[in-house]
Amino acid sequence: MSEIDADKCGITHYPAGVLARPAEPVENIDDNIRLLVEKMTEIMIANKGVGLAAPQAGVALRLFIISLDSSKENVRVFINPTVRPSGDLEQNEEGCLSVPGIYTKVKRYKKATVTATDLDGNEFTEEADGLYARALQHEYDHIEGVTILSRMGAAARIGHRRQLKKLEEKHNSANAR
Ligand code: NI
Repeated sequence: MSEIDADKCGITHYPAGVLARPAEPVENIDDNIRLLVEKMTEIMIANKGVGLAAPQAGVALRLFIISLDSSKENVRVFINPTVRPSGDLEQNEEGCLSVPGIYTKVKRYKKATVTATDLDGNEFTEEADGLYARALQHEYDHIEGVTILSRMGAAARIGHRRQLKKLEEKHNSANAR
């Protein structure tokens, strides 16, 4: 990927294709990437999210941000990350800015180890638990083309079918325009 037009980046919603396929590695941490991260931060904070992955801004790159209190000061950037979950599984309610109106119980591991590169090009490794571990697993899913919709059970999917249909219709009419 050579050029990213950060001005054109906006939140993508299910069933956008970019949310459903694995993203590509970031090759160079350049001004394009810095602008993309700025734009992603704006989108995340405006929507009061605690995390956002590049595909959610319409860009198929392996990059996500997390800010557990949804503040600009605490935004962390994870470029080409690997996330290794560990410990027990725990079920908890999750939402996703790309699947508005749907909150569902998702099983995640209680702990995770993340290795990633930051915006200065430095690689780092961290141990996470609690909300941080959950957010890392959720955002890592996004760069693998997975959303909470494929993590929720059949009953939840049936329970949310009207909202899913609404999102699909909105997507189809936007694409028909
Ligand atoms: Ni999400």
